[in-house]
Amino acid sequence: MASPALAPVSDATTADTPALTLDGVSLAYVADGRRVTAVEGVTLDIRRGERLVLLGPSGCGKSSLLRSIGGFLPPSAGRVLLDGRPVSRPGPDRMMVLQDFDQLLPWQTVRRNLISALAWARGTRRAEAEAVADDMLRRVGLARVADQYPHTLSGGMKQRAAIARALVLRPAVLLMDEPFAALDAMTRRRMQEELLALCEETGVTTVFVTHAIDEAIVIGSRIVVMTAHPGRVRAVIDLPCGRGPDRGDPAFAALEARIGGLIADQIGDPGTEATHGRPEAEATDGRPAAEATDG
Ligand SMILES: Nc1ncnc2c1ncn2[C@@H]1O[C@H](COP(=O)(O)OP(=O)(O)OP(=O)(O)O)[C@@H](O)[C@H]1O
Ligand SMILES: [Mg+2]
Repeated sequence: MASPALAPVSDATTADTPALTLDGVSLAYVADGRRVTAVEGVTLDIRRGERLVLLGPSGCGKSSLLRSIGGFLPPSAGRVLLDGRPVSRPGPDRMMVLQDFDQLLPWQTVRRNLISALAWARGTRRAEAEAVADDMLRRVGLARVADQYPHTLSGGMKQRAAIARALVLRPAVLLMDEPFAALDAMTRRRMQEELLALCEETGVTTVFVTHAIDEAIVIGSRIVVMTAHPGRVRAVIDLPCGRGPDRGDPAFAALEARIGGLIADQIGDPGTEATHGRPEAEATDGRPAAEATDG
């Protein structure tokens, strides 16, 4: 159960409204006078408090989808709805954390970065902002370095600080684009566990992009496997009890192999008619993928 002090600020009219809806979303860019379709016809309902992972090969449009949810990239077709209302611009209800280590303002201390964000985005008064920022920095284990400048922190600490700055605003949706990709393997695993605990504590709805299958299984309560360019939904894997198997469990390796197969079998054969617009229903107990749904 999420702590009320950390719970997302939400305009939801009913608890049944999905936190986020992607309704036939296509995304396109124009580059050198040529139109590039990055994402085609993605439809997904993302439930409140869910950790949805977008997984797929490089260039399949994961970051583009995240940018669109963030309000930075309008769909060329379809709609993105937050609490049932169309997203038209960026806002503090959708905070983004990126792979890049330099996401904080370099001329402010870590603590000041959080306080400024609260004042700017939420209009929080000084004393309250200080208390909320200090509480969040304690939660992410950065109290000791609160008064340091971002350039003095390690990569892992910088990512913790970026997550703290995002969560302190109590966003409805936390958008994460490969936030741990540039960390060493040990730090990465620790950060994955810490993020899970924070998501549970705050109850924030999370959309997490990665191309690491093991990370998707650890982080996700649901995994969406996308096709190669242009990105469509290839398969949706609901994890039982909202969690993947433990790393040591043979079911983990089985699921990893199965997802690997789903990704591999369409690289080089992007967007076959067989998968177009018809995501596979996926079993989640380690059985082979339900290929039969391809017709
Ligand atoms: N600003 C842009 N202008 C033109 N084309 C773009 C732009 N950004 C992305 N694209 C194209 O859209 C497609 C999807 O890109 P996107 O960055 O969303 O993929 P991705 O799944 O995040 O890839 P990666 O795993 O490498 O980060 C690619 O073909 C890419 O070349
Ligand atoms: Mg990307």
